Amino acid sequence: MSKNIESHLSEDREFKPSKEFSKKARISSMAQYKRMYKESIEKPATFWAREAKELQWSKQWTKVLDWKAPYAKWFVGGKTNICVNCVDRHVEEGRGTKAAIIWEGEPGDKRTLTYQQLQREVCRFANVLQANGVKSKDRVLIYMPMTPEASIAMLACARIGAVHSIVFGGFSAESIKDRLEDSKAVAVITADGGWRRGGVIDLKANVDDALKGDKTVKKVIVLKRTENEVKMKRGRDVWWHEEAAKVPATHKARAFDSEHPLFILYTSGSTGKPKGILHTTGGYMISTYTTCKYIFDMRDDDVYWCTADVGWITGHSYITYGPMLNGVTQVMYEGAPNFPDFSRFWQIVEEYGVTIFYTAPTAIRAFIKAGDELVEKHDLSSLRLLGTVGEPINPEAWMWYYDKIGGGRCPIVDTWWQTETGAIMLSPLPGCTPIKPGTATLPFFGVDAAILDETGQECKANEGGRLVIRQPWPSMLRTIYGDKKRYKDTYWSDYSGMYTAGDGARRDKKGNFWIVGRLDDVLNVSGHRLGTAEVESALVSHKAVAEAAVVGRPHDIKGQAVVAFVSLRAGVESSDALLKEVRDHVGKIIGAIAKPDDVYFTQALPKTRSGKIMRRLLKELVATGKATGNMTTLEDINVVRNLEALVQKK
Ligand code: PRX
Repeated sequence: MSKNIESHLSEDREFKPSKEFSKKARISSMAQYKRMYKESIEKPATFWAREAKELQWSKQWTKVLDWKAPYAKWFVGGKTNICVNCVDRHVEEGRGTKAAIIWEGEPGDKRTLTYQQLQREVCRFANVLQANGVKSKDRVLIYMPMTPEASIAMLACARIGAVHSIVFGGFSAESIKDRLEDSKAVAVITADGGWRRGGVIDLKANVDDALKGDKTVKKVIVLKRTENEVKMKRGRDVWWHEEAAKVPATHKARAFDSEHPLFILYTSGSTGKPKGILHTTGGYMISTYTTCKYIFDMRDDDVYWCTADVGWITGHSYITYGPMLNGVTQVMYEGAPNFPDFSRFWQIVEEYGVTIFYTAPTAIRAFIKAGDELVEKHDLSSLRLLGTVGEPINPEAWMWYYDKIGGGRCPIVDTWWQTETGAIMLSPLPGCTPIKPGTATLPFFGVDAAILDETGQECKANEGGRLVIRQPWPSMLRTIYGDKKRYKDTYWSDYSGMYTAGDGARRDKKGNFWIVGRLDDVLNVSGHRLGTAEVESALVSHKAVAEAAVVGRPHDIKGQAVVAFVSLRAGVESSDALLKEVRDHVGKIIGAIAKPDDVYFTQALPKTRSGKIMRRLLKELVATGKATGNMTTLEDINVVRNLEALVQKK
């Protein structure tokens, strides 16, 4: 990370969009951006009402914003159906035969769904949900592979007013169980399995494990994808295709209040328990719609591809909702980027003529490592715009992306945002913003972003501080599901009436935002958020472990790697077998992404005299191999010296 900051501070390369790109772009000059930005901040009601009117509402709002910090209501009194806006609207407006999803499965199977076909599938599945007892405001847990049915399930829930809560397919049975307990979902939508690197992930078996002892789930709807054998529990488990065959392909949608809950998505925080971020309908719809329209500059003839999984917020906002609200054609891919090898993505770009491509820095770094020849054998000339998301992008990766993938002609939108913000907050506009490797540049419309010091003063240019948002925005989270206090304490208590993002950042003289990374104990592993406390609590749930401390260390591909310092219970001997067992245990409790890269067994952890683990020292130790700085409060300096020896030996 520190290497990144240094290269950021000396970064002076700047790229402007070509005249040809600007001419066709929705926002083609900085003057136009500034004018619109000013209006969006000074007269948010005027700005957002104009945007909202581009979509369909059954009843217009009476007030654009009702703000009693930290609670916002957007488009108050308005009624709409986000699914109708994503799907039916395009059919009604004559775009029914346009491809909505061009899907490729990992084994190479292909499927295209037009908007009309999508409408039929979504309507059928809305009927299936209702026939299986799902009602408005019921929570529905989705645990699916990346097939069109993942989006169909989300849209069908939204259509009937049910609240979806997706759990990423790489998460474990335990993770599903925790989320089920918190959300009290009445139904689960899953599949027999999903393809990943040539193998099948047994999704249904994980759901079965998670449901042991559960009392709230009444139905499990299972999509047949991999045809592996699964157990079906009578009365509870039903097959998607069998249920779909029983119901019509039409469904009359009802409009819901603008503040009707749309989904809960769990994300890691600084405690052991993930937070259920709640998003609602109207504001989220307008933010995802406008960010796609202006930042991805989506047009009728684009072929857009976001490589995320619907299990993350990027998949919610920039696979299912935003692109479909814009009626774009998108590519969806089921599997891993390196299956059968690292040219898979470029083969897909070439085959489908992808024009807009959105991915994560960690993937870009993996491609660089895999070698340029895998890129060079493909024709990528269809691309016109590139995007990144998830973590700060190092300038070297940015330049490679710009030159090798974008051929030096495609603007890169480095988009900063969070599960909580629902939509992109900081990003260049591709037709006008001068871009630099490593900065998410400027705030999007309506985003009053600033960097403050500890006293609440705005930092001077190039000074590091905390990133805050000073005004509400349409797609902001409304609460943490079931925990108002945690919502207030986590996001709204650092500075009165302002949202604290939890990220450190600085602004350069031109006003560009440079994100440094999380300020809390949250790691960013391959663009995914992981709480150190979450991994620690998984570690201590292993019978051999007495205590654990987890920190991140810089990693070439993942951004950060997970490092665990573990003290064992009295009488337990450390061994390679135990090390493997402990790592696998974390995989079982959370999911494979949380498995520590390094585990150090130690007699003791470095603590202050009052018993607090000194993580600062551990972080320094794993980054540099040495612990320096102030150790006067440390209980026993020998603990640190022993750990130094361990880390250096590795
Ligand atoms: O630290 C920031 C980093 O990812 C965090 C949000 O993680 P999550 O809620 O999982 O959402 C990821 C996808 C939106 C942020 O607090 N982050 C995200 N995008 C960027 C970023 N850091 C730097 N630059 C970005 N473009």
